[in-house]
Amino acid sequence: MKRIIIILVAMIIGVELFAQKPISIIPKPVFIQQHTGTFEIDEKTSVHFDTDQLELKDAVSFFKQAIKSISGYELAENGDSKSIIQFILDTQSGIYPEGYNLVVEDNLITLKAGDKAGLVYGIQSLLQILPPVRTNAALEIPCMTIDDYPRFKWRGMHLDVSRHFFGPEVIKEYIDLMASYKLNVFHWHLVDDTGWRIEIKKYPKLTSVGAWRVDYNHIPWSQRPQAKPGETPDYGGYYTQEQIKEIVEYAALRNITIVPEIEMPGHIASAIAAYPELSCNQKAQLPLTGGDYTGISSNYCAGNDSVFDFLENILTEVIDLFPSTYIHIGGDEVNKTSWEKCERCQKRIHDEGLKDEHELQSYFIKRIEKFLLSKNRKLIGWDEILEGGLAPQATVMSWRGESGGVEAAKMGHDVVMTPGKPCYFDHYQAGPAGEPLAIGGFNTLKTVYDYEPIPAALPTDSKQHVLGAQANVWTEYIPTVSHLEYMVLPRMAALAEVVWSPAENKDWIDFNKRIQQHFKTYEQKGLNYCAGNATVAIKPVSSNGSLQVELSTELPSAEIYYTIDGSEPGNKSSKYSEPVNITSSAYLKAVSVVNGKVMGQEAASQHFVVHQAVGHNVDYLNPVSRYYQADGPNSLTDGVRGTGNVGKYWHGIVGKDLVATIDLGEVKDVGSIALGCLQKYVDWIFMPEKVVFETSVNGRKYKQVGEVLNPVAPGEAEKIYDFKVSVEALKARFIRVSAVSTVCPEGHSGAGKPAWIFADEIIVE
Ligand code: ACM
Ligand code: ZN
Repeated sequence: MKRIIIILVAMIIGVELFAQKPISIIPKPVFIQQHTGTFEIDEKTSVHFDTDQLELKDAVSFFKQAIKSISGYELAENGDSKSIIQFILDTQSGIYPEGYNLVVEDNLITLKAGDKAGLVYGIQSLLQILPPVRTNAALEIPCMTIDDYPRFKWRGMHLDVSRHFFGPEVIKEYIDLMASYKLNVFHWHLVDDTGWRIEIKKYPKLTSVGAWRVDYNHIPWSQRPQAKPGETPDYGGYYTQEQIKEIVEYAALRNITIVPEIEMPGHIASAIAAYPELSCNQKAQLPLTGGDYTGISSNYCAGNDSVFDFLENILTEVIDLFPSTYIHIGGDEVNKTSWEKCERCQKRIHDEGLKDEHELQSYFIKRIEKFLLSKNRKLIGWDEILEGGLAPQATVMSWRGESGGVEAAKMGHDVVMTPGKPCYFDHYQAGPAGEPLAIGGFNTLKTVYDYEPIPAALPTDSKQHVLGAQANVWTEYIPTVSHLEYMVLPRMAALAEVVWSPAENKDWIDFNKRIQQHFKTYEQKGLNYCAGNATVAIKPVSSNGSLQVELSTELPSAEIYYTIDGSEPGNKSSKYSEPVNITSSAYLKAVSVVNGKVMGQEAASQHFVVHQAVGHNVDYLNPVSRYYQADGPNSLTDGVRGTGNVGKYWHGIVGKDLVATIDLGEVKDVGSIALGCLQKYVDWIFMPEKVVFETSVNGRKYKQVGEVLNPVAPGEAEKIYDFKVSVEALKARFIRVSAVSTVCPEGHSGAGKPAWIFADEIIVE
């Protein structure tokens, strides 16, 4: 009998809990406990607060406005009511900065914070629980207690509005999304080669000329030609100072600081188009139309004092518009060749006792920092500002991996972490089959979620210099608002949990449950989003003469089904349980299946070319770059051929020959040997000067069996070419392939500098 009662009680409690609405707040609060019961907001609910506290008033009116838009209710202030939401701002409360304490009871909600930011975030938590748009649904909030505060103080999202322009309403939508996820820094990339987007009263041509480019939107970004004189610049736009002031205020109400980026000394073809006298060669040019920088002088002349007057005048207006402590001055990817050839730049190097052009860049940034400091602002720039010596108080944004951040933090500088992997949201997040064309790379929702902003290489006493992390959204390949939404949703939500929630509270499975609720919100709001990476990851593992393929999926509780006969896989195909052994050329296709349902848009698919070298180990004379390792050390014998996607299939090496040796395990008859290579002009990847093929039966004595000179023209934008020799009746066990390094060609922005060699496979038949 007793047991039955216990079971009955358990069932009742279970039903009660089951009936409660799940709470799906992202980022996950530090502490959250749900209780039984529900508070319902209706037209009689009243908000209570101390009307003498202005900041409190702002936050409450923000809340009231939000409730009105989803229900039509005009909540009374400090009225007599049975259901009350009370807001308390108490600087002595002991609650952490930006933190809040929220207690929901049947008839009373109490939101308490030590600052306005905390109030705003408590409100955001409430709003995530309520319907996102106006419906007939009741405005119910489960009873609960939350104690919450952020892990990092820099929780950033960046947006490039130069490559593609997004109007003020889109910026507000972006800010709203950020605010709902408790992100607090909007890094606004307002200036780049392809468009100047901020009105500067003193220099009207920056926008009348610099904001407009010739539109070649029918051509992929990286292949767009340079505009010709006489063509009409017809794509562009900019923000007026009035619009900017309004957006800054809009953001501030949501606890978002806007950090404007005014690029210098490179990436400013738009400014040079307006004022050619500021460049080294002073030649007239147009804003760039796309990704090829060849022949363009797009640096400010560092030897010309008028450049500094110009920039100080611009920054003065920028400072008046943006209250942000930090002003971002870019500093990335400066092509210093124009400085090398410029008399004035060389004179500056001489007069200032500088060693080289790197120190000239450092001189440039330090001079700008001095100006910003005189205005009580701090300089932040991309990690290239380390080159030639960091400005004394600069903050560094680490984007080329973590090393810039580690180096700067060790020197005692503050840093913001935004490494390309996984913080570049212009990269693919699923597929890429079925995904819109992206610039490359692959940063899935899970890789973002798993990101840890404090680099492992950082000594404990430097950790406090990591202000936080940020995701960047470069828009070369993102021309529309709906595409922009797709790139940031839901990765923005994962980032939010990375920078807000305590590391030990992170839980990928739990996040996946909560994100489902957010998908519904996106749908109700008409926002485009990526429903996670259902695409099965296909990872060849080539070793000791066999090719095994591992399959994995990011979807929690998904099973994998696959085929190797080219047919479309479904939930009746072979179920994956261990690595698939590939013994002859085949198409492997695989899908994720959840509860019997095939997920995602298209099956993942990979063609494997099986030849004599497949599966055999590869030895390198010179190590390949750690950034371009494709599937790992044996990628050149994994049977996978490369595509134009540079991040995925290729082994890359720069400044050294690629010398790879394969041991076939036994002496074999060989008919041909080939090395597949990639040329991609904009990415500094060129064909090797030549490829030399050698073989050996014993691994000691090699003989050369062929040499192929590069037949590909250096100006060719993108090309995959197999350097191949046919041999007759050759017996060999060891095969050595040497691709001889080269430099970027004449006319290229890296002319004379080491070019990358990219190779995908050594094919032995
Ligand atoms: C960058 O991605 N060039 C900062
Ligand atoms: Zn110069």
